[in-house]
Amino acid sequence: MRILIATMNAGKRREYPRLLAAVPGLELETMASLAESVDVQEDCDTFVGNAKKKATEVAAIAGMPCLSDDSGLEVDALGGRPGVRSARYSGESATDATNNAKLLEELGDLSDAARTARFRCAIVVVDSEGRELARAEGACEGRIGREPKGAHGFGYDPLFIPEGFTQTLAELGPETKNEISHRAEAAAKLVPLLQQLQRP
Ligand code: IMP
Repeated sequence: MRILIATMNAGKRREYPRLLAAVPGLELETMASLAESVDVQEDCDTFVGNAKKKATEVAAIAGMPCLSDDSGLEVDALGGRPGVRSARYSGESATDATNNAKLLEELGDLSDAARTARFRCAIVVVDSEGRELARAEGACEGRIGREPKGAHGFGYDPLFIPEGFTQTLAELGPETKNEISHRAEAAAKLVPLLQQLQRP
């Protein structure tokens, strides 16, 4: 089975081959092999809604099954923001650095106990016609640190300290992240669903 990972996010593209390695015979394609600029408006108010929209629109262009992931960070002290707006939290031309800077500014000197947050991830797989084949969700609890630390990962990883750890995801590195992340949890639930699809 060939599935296109419908994302331009290089961080996500790096993580998926390992996360789905347990599905025998699964071949993952990336957007680099498609027209570069499939610009999907992520305007749904749920992660699942956006993931399904992205997967469906890209599948219509690519003519092959697509997997899309919508993910983001929910910060309790911000009432769950930035949530589905995580990628563009600091504006339309946001970068990981400007998003992290805005988050630190908004949280100010809140105590560690008040800096709780979680990453959420929804994955939806559709066939070439946009029919949903599988979906799965995952979350990773933690808190927001006081300064960016670490060089691995992407997005808010330099600020996110997972529950049970003292280092950020960007310090912990890909092996640990791929065991505990929101994307890892969602992918682990997706693996048996994809295996099921492969059966004759
Ligand atoms: P989208 O799913 O492409 O709409 O964007 C998700 C945004 O949430 C990313 O641009 C990051 O800012 C953030 N995000 C999602 N997953 C992660 C992660 O694993 N680590 C750090 N940031 C993440």
